[in-house]
Amino acid sequence: MIDESRVEAGALSATGVPAEEVLEEVRKLRAGDAPTHGGRLFAYVYDPAVPGLDELAAAAHRESAHVNGLDPTAFPSLLAMENALVGAAGRVLGAGPGTTAPDVVGSVTSGGTESLILAVKTARDAHPEISEPRIVVPSSAHAAFAKAAHYLRVALDVVPVSPETLRPDPAAMAAAIRPETVLVACSAPSYAHGVVDPVTQIAAAAAEAGVRCHVDACFGGWTLPYLRRLGEPVPPFDFAVPGVTSISVDLHKYAYAPKGVSVLLHRDATLRAPQYFAYADWPGYTMINPVIASTRSGGPIAAAYATLRHLGDEGYLRLTALTRDAVAGLADAVRAVDGLRLMAEPESTVVCFTATDGGPDLFVLVDELTARGWHTQPQLSYDGLPASVHLTVTAAVAPRVAEFGPDLTAAVAAARAAGPVRLPAELAALVGALTPEALTPDLIIGLAAGLGLGGEEGSDAGPLPERMALVNTLLDAAPSALRERLLVEFVSLLQRPSWAPS
Ligand SMILES: Cc1ncc(COP(=O)(O)O)c(C=O)c1O
Repeated sequence: MIDESRVEAGALSATGVPAEEVLEEVRKLRAGDAPTHGGRLFAYVYDPAVPGLDELAAAAHRESAHVNGLDPTAFPSLLAMENALVGAAGRVLGAGPGTTAPDVVGSVTSGGTESLILAVKTARDAHPEISEPRIVVPSSAHAAFAKAAHYLRVALDVVPVSPETLRPDPAAMAAAIRPETVLVACSAPSYAHGVVDPVTQIAAAAAEAGVRCHVDACFGGWTLPYLRRLGEPVPPFDFAVPGVTSISVDLHKYAYAPKGVSVLLHRDATLRAPQYFAYADWPGYTMINPVIASTRSGGPIAAAYATLRHLGDEGYLRLTALTRDAVAGLADAVRAVDGLRLMAEPESTVVCFTATDGGPDLFVLVDELTARGWHTQPQLSYDGLPASVHLTVTAAVAPRVAEFGPDLTAAVAAARAAGPVRLPAELAALVGALTPEALTPDLIIGLAAGLGLGGEEGSDAGPLPERMALVNTLLDAAPSALRERLLVEFVSLLQRPSWAPS
């Protein structure tokens, strides 16, 4: 029976819990997470390992957490910090006074995905006369472009990348431009492999067709310029390239700000104009939003501002040098192991490798690395590209590099000894025959249980099995549409309200 005299479930306790106890709960929950610091997690987090920086960012976040970016006239502090972040990003990316892009403008968004959605929306809304707008992207472009296309009902024309260079052929990108194309996009660099697309040629083709060109530098926009200053051969990718009309760069990646901050830049205010949404046709306040969210916390913006101010240009140069050396060390470790090969020679801050013929099973290898405390990211095979292992490298990895080689060697030996994962015959048959439409709730629950996903109710086991090779092997065997559907169903199984009081 529900006791209606009080409302209590999940995070809502019957009576208030003392602050220290609540914090202890959070710490206990966090103990089960992947390690955000320490240089052993090669995805999701960006750690400069600078003493005191977390505390500074947290303090700045606290100062502005309750400030609302909804109205910059009520909170000029936020406007000032946003403009300062946009100015910094513009400067890093070849724009500003004295450059060929002196009129750059921009906005702070919540992350790379929002920046890309807005780049697509802005390009779409610049052409209200095009009833069925399209965008052209390389197959290596971040999935957020597909999400943008889906949300905004824009058709996505995907140009495959070469299996050798992992880049699109600029001529094929040019050929994909149609009269309905509103945007051509490319990456600097791509997330999966860390290679920089041929931006100069792609932007030139877009300009010739009178189409906008967006450079997705969400991942590498804050490191490529510093790598260039350190003498690395970074190809042109920023506003110095004619035809580039917008660029996105995530401050919560290599600018090392806490999560929730990206910058979307446009070459001039006219190009940015369709990004805004204004609405006065209701009885409340007139809404004028440059980004998707309306109410926006000032916390992440203040934290990013503090991070940039504290690290400074010299700090980023130093952190990029550390990262570059870590990348070189990790790549050497991969080259030294029989059975592995780099997908591409590193040209940014990614090390990505695959197995050679007769090499270890990569998904087993990923589990073996996890067992040794190295959290890498498996990437499934795709359109002629083999499955691979992705390492996003940040400055915090530098002191750990020497430990990686021996552990990689040991993990490869263990993976070889264990042999590849074999899907149980009934699972293999199921994946071979299943279409996304044929998936029933019972089948999904059966599959999840067979794979050890979701955790047992009432047990202490986490939602994921300790070893993921079986899950990854199953997903790898499935076509993309089935992968998507299975993952949606599995994640949906995890996202259930907790009714019991915490
Ligand atoms: C190249 C690139 N673009 C866009 C994104 C999306 O960024 P976010 O996860 O901040 O939405 C990422 C994330 O890794 C990325 O690497």
